Amino acid sequence: MDLEAGTDDYGADQVIYSLAAAAEARDPYTEAHAQRVGQSARRIGARMGLSPGQQETLYRGGIIHDIGKIGIPDAILLKPGELDFEEQIKMHLHPVIGESIVAPLKSSADLRPMIRHHHERYDGTGYPDRLASDEIPLLARIVSVCDAYDALINDRPYRERLSQDEAFVILQSGAGRQWDPQIVKLVVDEARREAALVETSID
Ligand SMILES: [Fe+2]
Repeated sequence: MDLEAGTDDYGADQVIYSLAAAAEARDPYTEAHAQRVGQSARRIGARMGLSPGQQETLYRGGIIHDIGKIGIPDAILLKPGELDFEEQIKMHLHPVIGESIVAPLKSSADLRPMIRHHHERYDGTGYPDRLASDEIPLLARIVSVCDAYDALINDRPYRERLSQDEAFVILQSGAGRQWDPQIVKLVVDEARREAALVETSID
């Protein structure tokens, strides 16, 4: 692909979604994960009163936040056990790789913070830039919690899915350390509300 920096317009979104699909296709465990992260991030944005434009940006960012995993070898990406130290270092490059993949697309400007910063931690010990609390872009903080919650309640190569209540406990114990506590509260509330709606429709 030979894109001239900053000159794309029509079709740039299609390029981004194609890249996201390519990233997902390599890892059956993440099938539909990115789509769900996009949808829940958009819902949380709506609950926070963000503009429709920002909600849409959250949806797109949720879908492509892990695009940099394209650059991670299968042996690491699909490893059934825990990653060793060197493998972790390589895996931790995926936000930066992802940012560089979409950087030539002018329309990706508002997505880049979510791609680069979705593994920062609220206490400032995350990566790649060790940003803390409000230094972490708001949309990246939202994607981070939605990403973690969806990963917890679905099977991964290294563990089986957790129950919703088990996932809530993990999110709440990481509130203020790994994640923005206000966003954790919203994600838990939203998941409880949806579960109640499903139960009502089954009754
Ligand atoms: Fe990631």
